[in-house]
Amino acid sequence: MAREPVQRKSPDLTAEQVERLRALFPEAFSEGRVDWDALRATLGDAVDDRPERYSFSWAGKRDAIRLLQTPSAATLAPCPEESLDFDSTQNVFIEGDNLEVLKLLYKAYFGRVKMIYIDPPYNTGNDFVYPDNYADPLDTYLRLTGQADAAGNLLTSNPETSGRYHSAWLSMMYPRLFLARQLLREDGVIFVSIDDSEVHNLRMLMNEIFGEENFVAAIVWQAKDTPGNASSEVALTHNYVVCYKRSDAFKVRLLARTESQLANYKNPDNDPRGPWLGTPLTRGEYRPRDYYALLNPAGEEVLPPPGNSWRRPKATIERYQREGRLWWGRDGTSRFPFVKTFLSEMKEGVVPITWWDYRFAGSTRRARAEMKALFEGGRGFDTPKPTLLIRRMLELASTPDEGDLIIDFFAGSSTTAHAVLAQNREDGGNRRFIMVQLPEPTGRTDYPTIADIGKERIRRVVARMKAEDEGKLPLSTRDTPEDLGCRVFKLAPSNYRPWPGVAGAAPDAYAEQMALFTDPLVDGWQPEGVIWEVALKEGYGLDSRVERLPGLAANTVYRVSDPARGQSFTICLDARLDVAALRALHLGKDDLFVCRDAALDDAQAANLALQCRLKVI
Ligand SMILES: C[S@@+](CC[C@H](N)C(=O)[O-])C[C@H]1O[C@@H](n2cnc3c(N)ncnc32)[C@H](O)[C@@H]1O
Repeated sequence: MAREPVQRKSPDLTAEQVERLRALFPEAFSEGRVDWDALRATLGDAVDDRPERYSFSWAGKRDAIRLLQTPSAATLAPCPEESLDFDSTQNVFIEGDNLEVLKLLYKAYFGRVKMIYIDPPYNTGNDFVYPDNYADPLDTYLRLTGQADAAGNLLTSNPETSGRYHSAWLSMMYPRLFLARQLLREDGVIFVSIDDSEVHNLRMLMNEIFGEENFVAAIVWQAKDTPGNASSEVALTHNYVVCYKRSDAFKVRLLARTESQLANYKNPDNDPRGPWLGTPLTRGEYRPRDYYALLNPAGEEVLPPPGNSWRRPKATIERYQREGRLWWGRDGTSRFPFVKTFLSEMKEGVVPITWWDYRFAGSTRRARAEMKALFEGGRGFDTPKPTLLIRRMLELASTPDEGDLIIDFFAGSSTTAHAVLAQNREDGGNRRFIMVQLPEPTGRTDYPTIADIGKERIRRVVARMKAEDEGKLPLSTRDTPEDLGCRVFKLAPSNYRPWPGVAGAAPDAYAEQMALFTDPLVDGWQPEGVIWEVALKEGYGLDSRVERLPGLAANTVYRVSDPARGQSFTICLDARLDVAALRALHLGKDDLFVCRDAALDDAQAANLALQCRLKVI
């Protein structure tokens, strides 16, 4: 096809899922559609068709699935003026509703994210739960955020009296978690902060989306570091962090031993195997089989104390004795032997536990103090998480120096970005982040939206880090320079004119007709916006580079390259093309070239399509 159109919308998820099904079960397809009976026959006894079965549902689930399946027609517009090092950074902050944004990220980031952390509204009755509208999600977003008309600012909470209290929250979470899973790498993992209001529903929902077998842990985080004696019943001092992996390819990273853990290993007898930790050989329980005499180095017979026995079988203890692994005190006469566990023979690190104490994971009080330290006066965002909490997740789930991508799509004040920058600084890592945050109004004049607070926090953290560096030599241990930048994008209406749609007309035939007399781009489009929209919808990452190519007199031509995915395309948005001059670009058969449909006549289009992959707008 000479004139293949560029993608105008985010991918059609249903079509993609159907394609995956077709790849697995070609026999279950008939004339391009799923043959239900054939699929059922293929799957045999694995199909559960009992009238009563275990399932999880709520009012509005069907609409939530429909919403998920509706492709996004929006785009992400770059905002270099709000960014830091726009041209070189790989970190991204996106202002917008996260569902539309996740749909737009789907193509470029499918299976590429190492770790997702989200801290969604807990549904306490006071926090606001985004009122999705599958009929027109973008319009809803623009009205809610006051960008479509003066009314704006219709953000309200989801009160317990609403009648659909839990359902509304589940419907909001379902499509977002579904897309989150699609973005994760096979060895990726997601952490979700939540409290008692919805933890039970969240786990049911995540079991459905991620699979029960991929549940990793429901971590209990000690959010409050003070007792809270004002409570009339039992004072709530914890939150949960629910964790699921994408697949068994995820392996938790062991934690480095802390100074105090290391201090437990000593070497009072100068054992050449190095420092060791002693564990008593006695068990506080009498077992006749393990009750017998041992000889200590002084040659005395030693029995376990009354009511006790030895904690290992005789053969193992004899081996310990041969290998010098028993400790009988400095003079060898003790009656309470210890078994030595050598640090040199231990696993590299410590397996994490589900209890996260505020002393290593921070507390909400500490989180507010962190905000205060960055923003004079402090207040502005009331529910930040401590950076230490997220840094613990980064330690468990990300590798410092493999460019791991970390996403938080309920970013709030951008604590996750702060944690990534701080962790990279500490371990010389090169993790990258993508934050997504709604421009939820704050009622303040200095930072009118929460997105403004999130962006400003990143700027301030970076400024503080740069100030710390002043006068110091650059770190020599890094392979790649520290990335202290951040590209800002904003969710915006597409640059492509929507097809008005005419009852009865086949969309393709109608599109062909419309193309004859309508410019497909909206009034007032700007090249930068269109280039990024093409890039995104063709599956290019937001860290792609856009450069203007020199040496073409008649036309302005850009090259967009995405080094991480090893792909690039060339684009010209001029009204006419000097096709002969384009030869200087040496486009090959596999090279994608994008231009406006109206810029080429049929002969030129056919000619160009022979040289390269041609797509038109
Ligand atoms: C609990 S806060 C997250 C706080 C964050 N972890 C921090 O440390 O600052 C939840 C955030 O999600 C945002 N939010 C809610 N619905 C959203 C949506 N549909 N898209 C993007 N952000 C949303 C809210 O504006 C709020 O700032």
